[in-house]
Amino acid sequence: SNVPVITIDGPTASGKGTVASRVAERLSFHLLDSGALYRLTALQALRREVELRDEHAIAKLAEHLPARFQGEHIFLAQEEVTHAIRAEEVGNMASKIAALPTVRQALFGLQLGFRQTPGLVADGRDMGTVIFPTAKLKVFLTASVEARAQRRYKQLIDKGFSANMNDLLADLQARDERDTNRAVAPLAPASDAHLLDTSEMGVDQAVEQVMAWYSQK
Ligand code: C5P
Repeated sequence: SNVPVITIDGPTASGKGTVASRVAERLSFHLLDSGALYRLTALQALRREVELRDEHAIAKLAEHLPARFQGEHIFLAQEEVTHAIRAEEVGNMASKIAALPTVRQALFGLQLGFRQTPGLVADGRDMGTVIFPTAKLKVFLTASVEARAQRRYKQLIDKGFSANMNDLLADLQARDERDTNRAVAPLAPASDAHLLDTSEMGVDQAVEQVMAWYSQK
């Protein structure tokens, strides 16, 4: 496909979601929040009490995921779950099911379908390495675990969830560990990715850097 793609990968709460959506807006590109697909699958598994070890049943949920995206709003069939999928419990389950190869396989084609004119900004863990290896620009966002825990804390409180900083730090570390050490599509920068450490950087500055890299391509 000739449709340009910008991939933004990185760990939990690195700011990639916000940066990706701002860059997409600036360029009038489509947006793929790939983490939302894993969260939607996780939400369904939790609700239906499908157990983690029943990989086949979870892959089935992913394969038939009735996901719909309308701007910032995310739906499972008719139900809006924009808020529900952001709960820590759902994020933790998402990171567990994301280690299942059959689940990743089931979501593969769905993700490719987001590559539509005039272009796509895709954020996740393996956008540049596995899903869109031919992306025009690949960015890998990082930030210290402390900076990320603080951002996640603020996000959760702003969204009306309760949060505890020590629990968040422990959760982030556990999730980083799982995402980095899993056998399939582990979290790692593509060899041709631009690295951007946002520990000491605001969203505006990160967006400007990505835009500058893109305009040099
Ligand atoms: O980015 P977000 O926190 O919403 O992603 C939730 C979980 O989904 C992550 O912890 C990660 O394990 C998984 N994920 C993934 N590959 C992606 C996007 C998310 O494995 N491309």
